[in-house]
Amino acid sequence: MYYQPIIDFIRSLYPGKETIPLHEPYFGGNEKKYVLDCIDTNYVSSVGRYVDRFEEMIRDFTGAKYAIATVNGTAALHIALKLAGVQPGDLVITQPLTFVATCNAISYCGAEPVFVDIDSDTLGMSPDSLESWLEQNVDIVDKGLEGLETPRSKLSQPSQPFLSIHKATRRHISACVPMHTFGHPCKIDRIVDICNRYHIPVVEDAAESIGSYFKGKHTGIFGKLGILSFNGNKTITTGGGGMILTDDDELGPLAKHITTTAKKPHPWKFEHDMIGYNYRLPNINAALGCAQMEILPYILQNKRETARKYQEFFKNIEEVKFIQEPSDSISNYWLNAILLNKEEERDQFLDYAYSQKVMCRPAWTLMNKLPMFSKCIYSLLNVASAIEKRLVNIPSSFRQYEIN
Ligand SMILES: Cc1ncc(COP(=O)(O)O)c(C=O)c1O
Repeated sequence: MYYQPIIDFIRSLYPGKETIPLHEPYFGGNEKKYVLDCIDTNYVSSVGRYVDRFEEMIRDFTGAKYAIATVNGTAALHIALKLAGVQPGDLVITQPLTFVATCNAISYCGAEPVFVDIDSDTLGMSPDSLESWLEQNVDIVDKGLEGLETPRSKLSQPSQPFLSIHKATRRHISACVPMHTFGHPCKIDRIVDICNRYHIPVVEDAAESIGSYFKGKHTGIFGKLGILSFNGNKTITTGGGGMILTDDDELGPLAKHITTTAKKPHPWKFEHDMIGYNYRLPNINAALGCAQMEILPYILQNKRETARKYQEFFKNIEEVKFIQEPSDSISNYWLNAILLNKEEERDQFLDYAYSQKVMCRPAWTLMNKLPMFSKCIYSLLNVASAIEKRLVNIPSSFRQYEIN
């Protein structure tokens, strides 16, 4: 049986640990120093120099023109969708294999997800599936002629003359949210091209893909807006945190305004000019983020080496396929994943791994199977269904033992 050799190999990667977590944070830099500095200076909340510095570091690292720090990735996605123009009653295209936060954020806008299939090489949205669903289900209409010229808020796209409308329900398809699954970039250039033809803004869920590149460009900056997450289980963490990315000169400043309660700048007056959100990342979390950004290249290198070791090892286990970084991409290998040949062995393997205190986990249950989203529109989801049944994530934390 191949279970025990896999467990033994994982244990050899993480020696000296009784329980091997799936992904734990690594604090090997100035984290304590910067957090203590926040406490010593009393700047622990939503004002402070670490927030600005963290945003600047993310701008430099990703190449985004604007980076706006938020309390978590879900909040970042909520605001990014609003800024893209998503309104109550709209439809938003996404993929069924994702963390529930993607669909929750769509729901917070009063919109509903539509699910198209994924590709087996990237595990992210399939441009072919997207294109064929759009071809069959969508009319491109002139906004004025369709009678859709209702007074829209400053948060919609006032200048866009054409809209994609779902033929069967006449609902506006107001965004598309591809996700870079486990850090592997999806075919984002084709997805953006297709969406451009249909006048659908792309909001990239790059929550898992800091340090991942597609054709030399950082993920999260291909669409109109993108987001990152710094949750405790991510490649780097701020405890909880997120970031909105955009190159748009109107939406960048607006993102900052709306995530900081839409307060008009003034030394002492409290005036707010729209419904805003208290979504600003606290300084104490940003302090952690600055320290983590300083060591990010080192973390990425370490995780890449772990992925290489896994890849070598799984070449000799014929019952299992290791998911490699897709072509044209550099993956951050946030969570390594394997596909078992036999779907009936997945749960047995997971049971065994847990009994050995090695924390592996299955793929997320597909979003269209969850009760909240089971009545949503979806295309054929053959690839996602097949992958969901056979995929297992394996421990992927930074390996301190690599240091020497
Ligand atoms: C794909 C995806 N989207 C969104 C989120 C939401 O991020 P957060 O947990 O920071 O709210 C996460 C991660 O947690 C995620 O994996």
